[in-house]
Amino acid sequence: MSRFEKHVFVCLNERTASDARGCCNAKGAAQVLDLLKGAVHERGLNKRIRVQRAGCLDHCEQGVAIVVYPEATWYGNVTPADCAEIVEKHLAGGKPVERLLLK
Ligand code: FES
Repeated sequence: MSRFEKHVFVCLNERTASDARGCCNAKGAAQVLDLLKGAVHERGLNKRIRVQRAGCLDHCEQGVAIVVYPEATWYGNVTPADCAEIVEKHLAGGKPVERLLLK
């Protein structure tokens, strides 16, 4: 049994600027990771929810890419401005942020 109720994986993969696939790192992934971690901690959710870096999640063109388990909710094109809403609505409230879902 997992110690955490949810795991949030944020792609921090980095590629060279010449790579056609692009990468989440170049789209602000490090800031997204820091903001999600900070908001989870501020809300006291860090004992139940783990936010961590991940390698490529294979949605490079739609980065910053994030996946939340165990429900396997995939988010794409996440920006720093979206982080508070993800924590508020999804991680704390249990309802995914529909407009950011990868389909
Ligand atoms: S580089 Fe982030 S999903 Fe591939």
